[in-house]
Amino acid sequence: MSIKSKIIEILEQNRDSSISGQELANILSVSRTAIWKNVQSLEKEGYDINASTNKGYQLNKYNDIVSNEGIKIFLSKKYKNLPINIHKTIDSTNTYAKKITIDGAEHGTIIIANEQTSGKGRFGRSFFSPVNTGIYLSILFRPKKNIADTSVITIAAAVAVCKVIQALTNTNPKIKWVNDIFLNDKKICGILTEAVSDFESGIVESVIVGIGINIKTTKEQFPKEIKETAGSLFPNNIYRNQIIAEIINNLFELYNNLSDKELINKYKEYSLILNKEITYFKDSKKYVGKAIDINKNGNLIVEDKNGQIYILESGEVTLHKK
Ligand code: BTN
Repeated sequence: MSIKSKIIEILEQNRDSSISGQELANILSVSRTAIWKNVQSLEKEGYDINASTNKGYQLNKYNDIVSNEGIKIFLSKKYKNLPINIHKTIDSTNTYAKKITIDGAEHGTIIIANEQTSGKGRFGRSFFSPVNTGIYLSILFRPKKNIADTSVITIAAAVAVCKVIQALTNTNPKIKWVNDIFLNDKKICGILTEAVSDFESGIVESVIVGIGINIKTTKEQFPKEIKETAGSLFPNNIYRNQIIAEIINNLFELYNNLSDKELINKYKEYSLILNKEITYFKDSKKYVGKAIDINKNGNLIVEDKNGQIYILESGEVTLHKK
């Protein structure tokens, strides 16, 4: 680990207190001048560090830089060695993950960007991914067995995100089937799962789960098409590093138990639409009905006004306004 990396780690671990240059120098067995020079270099990279002659160094409370060191502090021991690639700016973490999957990247590889220039959403839409204000994260899974249906991994991701948001911010996030997460009636997160299949056999070899969360994107920043529907988490004193790490911890735990009934139960618990009137499309036709259940594969069971039952495997639903 370089001196700079160690300084980041120590400052992230001690967000609530200052640490003197001498203390840092002792811990890292280098001179105070070396500490000072490295702190200056970190500031040039964008770190916001408060430095006072009496107290020493401390990360400014507005400093929310995503780093390997900052994420690892919060990762469970068993996930600390997962490869994490952080990019300042990238077209799309999913697109990049797909590229490196083909080149042989390993199961559990994580790609994070501080900005996406062509963030992708479902149905060929874009995902607004401005610099510094969101989490743009892709995780590559190489399931041991070929999975026909990847939707259960998306469900695990949606549940992991909700669990983390609920635990860290004491709020009540909800999942709009299939994979949009809402807070106070605004969409704050979208999940895009993409499978990489073998061209010859058509078998799913790997799955890329892309998670985008608006952390502190303001209403003014959102493009006009989504101004009224999109929102941000605005967590208090919780930083992106911790949110990312906890999502990784939770998602891998759920991934290792995908057939567990508890997963669907949790998904139902977080559902925004269960027992509500919705509009949905099936075979390009528009229907109105009530979402009455979610089955073990994550399919939505809907009953229309004539009592006819439909099973929706994918698609998009709209919730009726009260
Ligand atoms: C949606 O809302 O339709 C899904 C949005 C998914 C966005 C994430 S951000 C990280 C990953 N990279 C992408 O280009 N898209 C996903």
